[in-house]
Amino acid sequence: YQYFALVPAAGSGSRMGKALSKQYLPLAGRPLIAHALETLCAVARIKAVFVVLAPVDDEWLRHDWSVCGDKLVPLFCGGATRAESVANGLRAMSDRVKADDWVLVHDAARPCITPAHIEALLHAVGDDPVGGILAQPVADTLKRADSAGRIEATVARTGLWQAQTPQMFRHGMLLRALTQNAEVTDEAGAIEALGQRPRLVAGDASNLKVTWPQDLQLAEWILKARNH
Ligand code: CTP
Ligand code: MG
Repeated sequence: YQYFALVPAAGSGSRMGKALSKQYLPLAGRPLIAHALETLCAVARIKAVFVVLAPVDDEWLRHDWSVCGDKLVPLFCGGATRAESVANGLRAMSDRVKADDWVLVHDAARPCITPAHIEALLHAVGDDPVGGILAQPVADTLKRADSAGRIEATVARTGLWQAQTPQMFRHGMLLRALTQNAEVTDEAGAIEALGQRPRLVAGDASNLKVTWPQDLQLAEWILKARNH
């Protein structure tokens, strides 16, 4: 089997509240998405990096992606939800990929992913029949709120993890999972719905998802601190 990456990047970034889609916002001097794409393309074991873009995306064509080399494959097949974008991407890439090849699905909105994070995932999942995801144990105390914004209960955080990406599964199983269950917010959720138990691989908080405007500054600080 071989390794491939699939980067969903067809969202609009509504929580960011900017006219430009989140994936193209400037971050440390480049479009936000460029950071993750360059990191994934630099991993020798990853044969190709497929990017799922909105069916009409003029912004993609405005930038120069040549630093990513010839591994990068844009697919203009984004859907209405993240899960749909990933499923469309898996279908569009199926002529290059076999059912038991690994696909690492990584959010365009996680620009601070490092080669070390990716190597940790590849190493820990290894020959696993199911696959696994980068994640982080929950550190904060968790509260369940009532509709009036008061605390109804404290939720025990023992055994709770925050899911990150990449999420690494076999192409065939992942496409089957997402075709059967599209009401999921990550790939692991769809695999779990098949009755499988994906592996959790400890990452760290630097692999944050840029969601709100203040996340941009944090991500920029992380990227710049590494280059010093
Ligand atoms: N994504 C996608 N197709 C969609 C929705 C999201 O490919 N229909 C992608 C986003 O581009 C992003 C990743 O999935 O890289 C994670 O989604 P999220 O952080 O929620 O990004 P957006 O959906 O763009 O942001 P928001 O939810 O604030 O609108
Ligand atoms: Mg979203």
